[in-house]
Amino acid sequence: MPRSTRVQFPGDFRWGVSTSALQIEGASDIDGRRPSVWDTFAAEPGRIRNGDTPTRACDHYHHLQEDLDLIKALGVTAYRFSVSWPRILPRGTGAVNEAGLAFYDRLVDGLLERGIEPWLTLYHWDLPQPLEDAGGWPRRDTALAFANYADVVSRRLGDRVKHWITHNEPWCSTIKGYYEGEFAPGKRDLAAAIQATHHVLLSHGLALPVVRNNVADAKCGIALSLHPIHTASDSEADRLAAIRHDGLRNRWFLDPLHGRDYPKDVLRELGTAAPKIVDGDLAIIAGQTDFLGINYYFREIIADDPKGGPMRSRVVEPDATDVTGFGWEVYPEGLTELLQRVTRDYRPAPIAITENGATYPDEISADGAVHDDKRALYIHRHIDALRAAMDGGVDLAGYFTWSLLDNFEWAEGYSKRFGLVHVDFANQKRTMKDSGRWLASFLKG
Ligand code: FCB
Repeated sequence: MPRSTRVQFPGDFRWGVSTSALQIEGASDIDGRRPSVWDTFAAEPGRIRNGDTPTRACDHYHHLQEDLDLIKALGVTAYRFSVSWPRILPRGTGAVNEAGLAFYDRLVDGLLERGIEPWLTLYHWDLPQPLEDAGGWPRRDTALAFANYADVVSRRLGDRVKHWITHNEPWCSTIKGYYEGEFAPGKRDLAAAIQATHHVLLSHGLALPVVRNNVADAKCGIALSLHPIHTASDSEADRLAAIRHDGLRNRWFLDPLHGRDYPKDVLRELGTAAPKIVDGDLAIIAGQTDFLGINYYFREIIADDPKGGPMRSRVVEPDATDVTGFGWEVYPEGLTELLQRVTRDYRPAPIAITENGATYPDEISADGAVHDDKRALYIHRHIDALRAAMDGGVDLAGYFTWSLLDNFEWAEGYSKRFGLVHVDFANQKRTMKDSGRWLASFLKG
């Protein structure tokens, strides 16, 4: 049974919930917004489960005050959201859409009125379609366009928003988007995907001084999806495969962000797919940050597989009975292990868990409530894992649960519910789940 309580955490520890623009906002063609790569991708047959699209999502754009009140009701002290690039710069560069900025003014002001600290993510995968048409992240100019977008947003909101996350999960937006093809833009080209990782990291580094210049006392970071990597057996082949796999999954991002080159072993494996790097890029990528965001969901167990993609590795399903609705193993001890590993190997800035959560097939019961005890238990066990990591010397600044609302879960559409608040997508009715009530009582102490 989990045992941690709020008082075991420092007074300034951030407790938050996370969302992203494309997954909740809807209003995809309202007030000047234009399509992102995800709008285009979702319109292609067969890309998203059940043919779902993010067009309406949770219609958060029109339920803003209600959703802000729900955040407040959870008792959290911080809210992580993302800004929709195509709402601000509908063509990616050029003309700024005032109505888009005005929406985030209302959001930020509403948070501050309720005493909730905004944590803003600039990029949670919704690249403006015109930038993809021009070559997307494999093209270097996209990194420059991102720095310009960061300038526009930070000029406008920097007087009120102090926590800035450049990118969410570069691994997903690049490897899943340009190599595995499961995410927008749905391409399958390894060299393009690796070049995209470099440009995403470069754009992070280019944005840091821009944001700092516009925002007094800015706290800047990036949010990475990281995984503890375990081996499928004691064999030497599996052990080496796990090292290679960890190379692209974790070290490929952590190393350059912490002032090291890209890992040599991964560069070797990539061969001709290694990225083209301009002199000075690595120094830009290694720009100083104030926190490291980590999104944690599961560990990966790795076996050697000569045909298994660029790292010649294969993910083996764990022999687990405790799994979420995604089939992801519930493995809180992996969070402690991961945090200790990152601390030991990188001596990073203070860490914030910027996402952690679970999907279950929630339903509204006859009594009108959603009895999702498993989600509450999942969160509480991961909070225990944080406490253990802190006892082991990890410097932790906060914990954000994914997610405030059930929402558009990318290629899974509306079939995977992650919210502390249930959303009926037919009528947009919100219902606080038992897990949301549990979090509020945990935070009350
Ligand atoms: C993460 C994403 C987030 C959400 C969760 C379940 O990879 O950053 O948007 O989809 O997974």
